[in-house]
Amino acid sequence: MSISQQLREDMVHGSWIRKMFEEGLRLKAIHGTDNVYDFTLGNPYVDPPPEFFAALEKVVHEERHGIHAYMQNSGFPEVRARVATDLAAELDVPFLPAHVVMTVGAAGALNVLLKSMLDPGDEVVLVAPFFPEYAFYIRNHSGTPVVSRADATFLPDLADLDRLIGPRTRAMILNSPCNPSGRVVTAEVLQGLGDLLRRKSAENGRTIYLLSDEPYRKLIFDGRTFPSPFHHYEHTILATSHSKDLSLAGERIGYLAIGPDCEDAGDIFAAATFCTRTLGYVNAPAIMQRVLLHLGPYQPNVPIYQRKRDRLFSALTAMGYDIVKPEGTFFMFPKSPLPDDTKWLEVLAAERVLVTPGTGFAYPGYFRISFAVDDAVIERSLPGFERALKSLR
Ligand SMILES: Cc1ncc(COP(=O)(O)O)c(C=O)c1O
Repeated sequence: MSISQQLREDMVHGSWIRKMFEEGLRLKAIHGTDNVYDFTLGNPYVDPPPEFFAALEKVVHEERHGIHAYMQNSGFPEVRARVATDLAAELDVPFLPAHVVMTVGAAGALNVLLKSMLDPGDEVVLVAPFFPEYAFYIRNHSGTPVVSRADATFLPDLADLDRLIGPRTRAMILNSPCNPSGRVVTAEVLQGLGDLLRRKSAENGRTIYLLSDEPYRKLIFDGRTFPSPFHHYEHTILATSHSKDLSLAGERIGYLAIGPDCEDAGDIFAAATFCTRTLGYVNAPAIMQRVLLHLGPYQPNVPIYQRKRDRLFSALTAMGYDIVKPEGTFFMFPKSPLPDDTKWLEVLAAERVLVTPGTGFAYPGYFRISFAVDDAVIERSLPGFERALKSLR
């Protein structure tokens, strides 16, 4: 057999988004692109803002010897300094350049961190519903995912976490605002989580790190502020990117930031720098790093996503769909009207409406809608959403 048994299984179980993508292509070939309403992809809807193109223009004209050469594996020092300064101002946490490693997107940041901290068999706790790639990233580095189910409002269930965190727990991944639920974890829950992780770390005699995956941190609605885990748990490490807030998913620019009070912060920085190299990334994309240096203050296009959320949320809830209102991201995660969310997908697909099942996010009985789509797609899909629901009555 040419590929590993484990990978063969991963490819079968990790392919819901791809399956739906292929179903979309099939339906579009039959019915025409405009007659298929595809809510499956997590690609930003808007293009990058003008500030990005202005910075890119400056970078393109820069000429300096060695500008395209290898650099320190952690990234250009001046870029790390800029990230540390901006992040310190935004989150009110005293980050220094020595806490920042530039990465190949948030995915690169997570892989570098997991590679840095996991020994074979170490456990990493996830809160379902979660971005499905997490489980693969953990297994990439010999770890074992342990899944806790969020409560009915998609907030971490502290009692369940208390039960699942054990002596092998090395880290927990938290994603707020959350893909797929759009939920922002409250300061109150973060406080409880910090207390729990502190107590468990003391019981286990080793620190549990909180890996806070925040690519949607700036996509928050209704003027809400973002409660940062750094204010509630000192052993927090941020993984993020500009894939969503600057719509640069294809450019692969992100960073990790180690909490200044994190245990062994210096070792983690050194290990993350080393792993950036040995995982084969070598360094985060140079041109994009320099773009960040030239980028002035910018506002992600929150209003456009908020408007789409409002339209879809009010239309679907008026029809009778049961939805926890998303507070950020460009996803919503309604309850499946059928207990089997994969069967429900077929009912919607018969109306040419494509969504992703909760099963793909380890949370069956729900489905994810990505509303990073044209208003016209939302409007034209609504009769199909309504007929699908009525067909069950
Ligand atoms: C929750 C979450 N984390 C991480 C990622 C990966 O982000 P990036 O493309 O910056 O690697 C995504 C991408 O969709 C995501 O939704």
